[in-house]
Amino acid sequence: MKIVKIKKIIDETPNIKTFVINEKIDFKPGQFAMLWLPGVDEKPFSFMDKDKFTIARVGDFTNKMFKLKEGDKIGIRGPYGSYFKPYGEKILAVAGGVGAVPIMSFVREYKDLDITVILGARTEKELLFREEFNKYCNLEVCTDDGSCGYKGFTTDKLKEILKKDKYDLIITCGPEIMMKKVFDISNKHNIPIQASLERYMKCAIGICGICCIGEFTVCKDGPVFTGEQLKLLEEFGNYKRDASGKKIKF
Ligand SMILES: Cc1cc2nc3c(=O)[nH]c(=O)nc-3n(C[C@H](O)[C@H](O)[C@H](O)COP(=O)(O)OP(=O)(O)OC[C@H]3O[C@@H](n4cnc5c(N)ncnc54)[C@H](O)[C@@H]3O)c2cc1C
Ligand code: FES
Repeated sequence: MKIVKIKKIIDETPNIKTFVINEKIDFKPGQFAMLWLPGVDEKPFSFMDKDKFTIARVGDFTNKMFKLKEGDKIGIRGPYGSYFKPYGEKILAVAGGVGAVPIMSFVREYKDLDITVILGARTEKELLFREEFNKYCNLEVCTDDGSCGYKGFTTDKLKEILKKDKYDLIITCGPEIMMKKVFDISNKHNIPIQASLERYMKCAIGICGICCIGEFTVCKDGPVFTGEQLKLLEEFGNYKRDASGKKIKF
């Protein structure tokens, strides 16, 4: 565990901020770190960059993160977990909401590949990293209310794109229901897929068992799983778990 200083805080959307820390940590796109607020909790967040974490406010921990100021200190350990591995020449990425974070680090790392990103959010204001995505890849924007780009779900846009073009790999991160649809579509088109899953975590090193899904742990075997692994997971797209480990149907 390292103690680092928050160097800068960037407002991304009304409910999402990027925290820049005063240290650069090597990672692979898709890996995560555990961020620690003493007296509050320790929670997993994907690396956006070597010194950046982009966080949506959803509950107790993230509300406390949003109260931090530049100069405050937090604890950090990581990087942990598996990561996205590029394959072939043309890659399609599907990102929903804050799932855009590891997809952003992937397209930055592999900017020389031909990557198209389908980026979805409920409204235009909630779209993450539009300018940065435009720098590194082809961007297709979708909003639920049609305030920007294609009106509809990322999965509808994905079906439309796959009618016209061929891809060697699909990667995805976002709500699990979205990723399950992306998985089904990729299977139909016989395209390899990698998806980043989210579960509650404590140890982050494969010991405590809270993040178990089927025969895997999300913290150590995941969070990025291949299509072959996802096929073994009955829970994927059907159940999530609450903080106590109880199964909850999506
Ligand atoms: C590998 C990984 C990478 C992540 N990367 C990011 C990121 O880059 N940016 C970001 O904003 N968030 C990310 N998250 C999610 C983040 O860890 C949770 O949103 C955070 O822990 C919420 O804490 P909280 O106390 O604010 O909210 P809580 O009060 O704990 O949760 C609020 C609601 O969010 C849901 N939830 C919270 N944590 C989880 C979880 N681990 N699994 C499933 N549902 C959950 C629950 O439905 C809950 O009702 C990531 C999670 C994982 C596992
Ligand atoms: S968080 Fe402990 S095993 Fe995954």
